[in-house]
Amino acid sequence: MAKFLFVTDLDHTLVGDDAALSALNQQLQYHREEHGTMVVYATGRSPTLYQALRQQQEMLDPDYAVLAVGTLIYPGNSTTALPEWADYLSLGWDRDAIVAIASQCPDLVSQPQSEQTPHKVSYFLDEAIAPQLLPQLAAQLRDAASNFQLVYSGSQYLDILPKRGNKGTAVGFLQEQLAIAPERTVVCGDSGNDLSMFTPKQSKGIIVGNARPELRAWYQSVQPNHVYLATGHYANGILEGLIQLGFLKE
Ligand code: GLC
Ligand code: MG
Repeated sequence: MAKFLFVTDLDHTLVGDDAALSALNQQLQYHREEHGTMVVYATGRSPTLYQALRQQQEMLDPDYAVLAVGTLIYPGNSTTALPEWADYLSLGWDRDAIVAIASQCPDLVSQPQSEQTPHKVSYFLDEAIAPQLLPQLAAQLRDAASNFQLVYSGSQYLDILPKRGNKGTAVGFLQEQLAIAPERTVVCGDSGNDLSMFTPKQSKGIIVGNARPELRAWYQSVQPNHVYLATGHYANGILEGLIQLGFLKE
């Protein structure tokens, strides 16, 4: 057994089954002490909602917290995000131009102010309308701004982010910072905003058994060899995957 970079989404992936979470925490803590394994949380939550979850759940202190869908990176329990990552995302990102266009769209309902961050503009969007609206919105945005991506998750959340910023690019940044090979990285998730972590083929991935249709659809169409689709839900699915992929012993 050797050191690895453990990256996990929080809602409906790490968190969802308290007994399973506690069993996984024990294994990870042991691996950390014995082998120096690193723990990273990668969530859509803003700092405010992340702190609220930390109060509610028994969670390990992470080595890094990647918040707001990869647009904020915090070392450990620090409350100051890495400025170099913010600078990198700012290049060519025109938030005001994006808000000006998106706010004209009556089907987009703004998320609370706490979820609007310098590199993330977030709405609620009904899943019945999304397939039609997203391409239209992308076309309108392209007229005003070239640097953006649309990320739709959980059948209700729409995030507009800089092209260079998502959970996947944040994990790539951390792999470099920590000098951990993609092959020794495992990412875990359940929904659309986790997809960018699964697409690099060198890293290993675990999709939990309770994953949302949008992530399952990707798995079914791509049939990725580097990703394990668990039967177990939440942290049970993660534990199952870590054993299957050879990161932990049974
Ligand atoms: C979290 C965030 C929300 C975001 C969603 C999907 O729920 O609070 O702002 O839209 O994740 O990424
Ligand atoms: Mg999730």
